[in-house]
Amino acid sequence: MQIIRSIAEMRAWRCSAGKLAFVPTMGNLHAGHLALVQAAKQQADKVVVSIFVNRIQFGQGEDFDAYPRTFETDCEQLRVAGVDVLFFPSEQELYPRVKQAFNVEPPHIQNELCGAFRPGHFRGVATVVSKLFNIVQPDIACFGKKDYQQLHVIKAMVADLNMPIDVVPVDTGRAADGLALSSRNGYLSAEERSEAPRLYRHLQSMRDSLLAGSQDYVALERAAWQDLEQAGWRVDYVEIRQADTLAIAHAGEERLVVLIAARLGRTRLIDNIEVQRVASSAA
Ligand code: PAF
Repeated sequence: MQIIRSIAEMRAWRCSAGKLAFVPTMGNLHAGHLALVQAAKQQADKVVVSIFVNRIQFGQGEDFDAYPRTFETDCEQLRVAGVDVLFFPSEQELYPRVKQAFNVEPPHIQNELCGAFRPGHFRGVATVVSKLFNIVQPDIACFGKKDYQQLHVIKAMVADLNMPIDVVPVDTGRAADGLALSSRNGYLSAEERSEAPRLYRHLQSMRDSLLAGSQDYVALERAAWQDLEQAGWRVDYVEIRQADTLAIAHAGEERLVVLIAARLGRTRLIDNIEVQRVASSAA
């Protein structure tokens, strides 16, 4: 595996790469990232993974400084996974003017769900991902469904800005007890780790109620919220939305997604589950 640090070298390599799939990451890799790499390998001749901890998507008081930097073990995992190039730019390389004048501004969805609790986060994500797309110039880019809102923002950006890139969503990797794999799980104490799967259990039980025909979204959201708070979580949101568009869901909607963000101790966990309901045959 080649490690490339400069934009010029990355662009030069890309010219002879053929069909190229790309997996952007912030490092601290786990099995969920490796599933993205496997999906990328199935789609293209060559695979590039980037590692860049993107300061501008972290808010004040968030974990930018504490974010785990695990370069050596990340490299080893990527090598074993058969990645062709690791793009590993410095901050100076990617943001030479420190505060750049132009940013990619997502529409209103950037202020909803996670965006309501992390102002500027999705602008930071859209900006760095479009920079990375311009540098790596992939044909395909793989993103995990765990960051459902991020996936939505990237898909909308690629469509609206006519980027010639196929965005491939990859299912969320889970531990045996259902907890979604995340770099932030490493912040959980042993006690918190055993409590954490409660979040996914709520998603499953809300999905089951929706599949059984429940239309009272508010009641389902409130019940999950209350149980999590009683178990010691601080809930940011529990929401049932239209899948894909993330618009407010109305009764009778067929394609839904349930999204939860909640804090366990100092760790903020997010997860979601898609629900495909069969169209009602009633007139
Ligand atoms: O999902 C992530 O790891 C990051 O948000 C991304 C897409 C690499 C942008 O920094």
